[in-house]
Amino acid sequence: MAEPILRLEGLCKSYGGLDVTDHVDLEVAPSGVHAVIGPNGAGKTTLINQICGLVAPDAGRIVFAGHDVTHRPVHARARLGLARSFQITSILPAFSTLENVALAVQAHAGSSFRLFGRADREEVLNGPAYAALVEVGLGERAHVPAGSLSHGEKRALEIAIALAMDPKLLLLDEPMAGTGREETERLVHLLQGLKTRLPMVLVEHDMTAVFELADHVSVLIYGRILASGPPEAIRADRQVIAAYLGEGE
Ligand SMILES: Nc1ncnc2c1ncn2[C@@H]1O[C@H](COP(=O)(O)OP(=O)(O)O)[C@@H](O)[C@H]1O
Ligand SMILES: [Mg+2]
Repeated sequence: MAEPILRLEGLCKSYGGLDVTDHVDLEVAPSGVHAVIGPNGAGKTTLINQICGLVAPDAGRIVFAGHDVTHRPVHARARLGLARSFQITSILPAFSTLENVALAVQAHAGSSFRLFGRADREEVLNGPAYAALVEVGLGERAHVPAGSLSHGEKRALEIAIALAMDPKLLLLDEPMAGTGREETERLVHLLQGLKTRLPMVLVEHDMTAVFELADHVSVLIYGRILASGPPEAIRADRQVIAAYLGEGE
């Protein structure tokens, strides 16, 4: 594999004696979708939280884009290009769709905006914000209150907010959760377009979506990587079928 964009080495995290992340080694390629699948409680969200910096690991190392970020805070990782799709609760419902993205651009750019006057500032913010909305198919919804978006559109807005930060890697934790079939298909289509230019780590329960999108699949069971490989190999893996994919596939 080309130099990985993300490497986890011996990552460990336990809560009250429960090993939620148990010596996880993982390499994420600099292109394509790397899916992380596994049953509820396997430790997928905890893993994503350690990668983005919300949860500190007990042991191990996280190397992103050549930097050891294990002990760096969330915003420092974001500056390096590590973006996590925001939770729906971070969307401000009374603000327009465009304003929601522009605020994220401003937060990301930080104090550099002091250099601009008000009109310039709006243009500098709205340009990339609008481009991100167009990329996720929300261009025509730019000026409606974010609160009026459908559930699937809010998911797309979260992705636009992440994109506006010009990420090098996008972390997605169950983007299809709670969306209907049609909205799921729209999100899959959106991610298929995005993955041509941006590598992603995708945690997802919808196996149809996973196998449509993934170039690489890792299976997490009780905090351990049970198997990791190309989708076809994972689908055929007896251990994986027994532990997770069994029914429903
Ligand atoms: N902050 C926490 N304190 C205690 N236990 C936690 C905490 N976060 C997660 N856990 C436990 O860790 C396990 C894995 O959780 P999680 O990472 O959310 O799994 P998944 O996303 O795969 O469903 C669960 O048993 C959960 O209860
Ligand atoms: Mg989870």
